[in-house]
Amino acid sequence: MPRVLAPVEVGLGESAALGPGLLTDRFGRVHRDLRISLTDKCNLRCTYCMPEQGMPWIARDKQLSVEEMARIAGIAVAHGVTEIRLTGGEPLLHRDVVDITRRLASLPGAPEVSMTTNGVHLVKLAGPLRDAGLTRLNISLDTVDRDRFRQLTRRDQFDAVLQGLDAADEAGFTGTKLNSVLLRGVNDDEAPALMEFAHGRGYEPRFIEQMPLDAGHTWSRDTMVTADEIFAALTDQHTLTPVPHRGAAPAQRWYVDGTSAMVGIIASVTRPFCGACDRIRLTSDGQLRNCLFQRGESDLRALVRAGGSDQDIAHALGVSIEQKLPGHGVNDPGFIQPERGMSAIGG
Ligand code: 5AD
Ligand code: SF4
Repeated sequence: MPRVLAPVEVGLGESAALGPGLLTDRFGRVHRDLRISLTDKCNLRCTYCMPEQGMPWIARDKQLSVEEMARIAGIAVAHGVTEIRLTGGEPLLHRDVVDITRRLASLPGAPEVSMTTNGVHLVKLAGPLRDAGLTRLNISLDTVDRDRFRQLTRRDQFDAVLQGLDAADEAGFTGTKLNSVLLRGVNDDEAPALMEFAHGRGYEPRFIEQMPLDAGHTWSRDTMVTADEIFAALTDQHTLTPVPHRGAAPAQRWYVDGTSAMVGIIASVTRPFCGACDRIRLTSDGQLRNCLFQRGESDLRALVRAGGSDQDIAHALGVSIEQKLPGHGVNDPGFIQPERGMSAIGG
């Protein structure tokens, strides 16, 4: 293949040396966690994520092929990534999701491959995914009430998710986490119920502060349910004892009522954890992002399709990480929400 470099921001240069230090940024953060968005499409329309209609979808010819995705992931793993998380949109909507999982799990270096999903299609896919080497699941569920689920997601799929949870358990998944976003006046009274539901199934519940990442750009600090409020709602009924050793994990965790059952709160906005961030993201159209809130992207698709070598791609990874800012800036006066929303970037 001819080696032609595409006109991208991340061409060859001398500054980012290849080698073990490639994924370490200017602030000493080592990047071990690669999140790959398999598709920007979704079978739900959570109000805090997508508008009912009018989403501009990524064109098919811009989506990475399985080959291209596996190649980029392989290069990241060769340079120190140890965990790959498949996200979306809804990753189970990618028709090759099982094949992708198998290929990534069997990359040299054997990265751990996990997934964040809304669970709707787990009924049919939990078993095949487990066989393909998927190790862990984060399942998004914001309410344990069927009617509220329909209001919040604009789809009547609550039962499908419950069946999906059963299928995940039967397939042998353990350490499953349940992700919930609380919205004021919608489900902000449900923290204890969601925690009890999760613990009843042996899952770890995690509450995520709503971030300014909705495609409709409607986020408001005034309506966001804060980590402190969630903590207060939980401690109203339960005793929470801090779990030590947080590491790079976004969640702050507590043991509940003196048991080994835990709960996590991800205070993305009010207590950012950027200082320990070890994450980079690849969108389904092949754009590398060093942060959810990065204003630009590195066009790996163009590099790959122009015949870039493995070294060129590794170099582009290094440049992106080198440019990573110390924090997401959501609380800065001049903060501007990124162009793309969570469903196109990957959670
Ligand atoms: N803020 C916080 N969490 C969000 N998610 C989606 N959009 C947002 C947002 N704006 C959650 C989903 C899923 C995970 C990928 O991120 O509910 O659990
Ligand atoms: Fe789909 Fe997840 Fe967005 Fe809900 S939050 S619409 S499940 S991508």
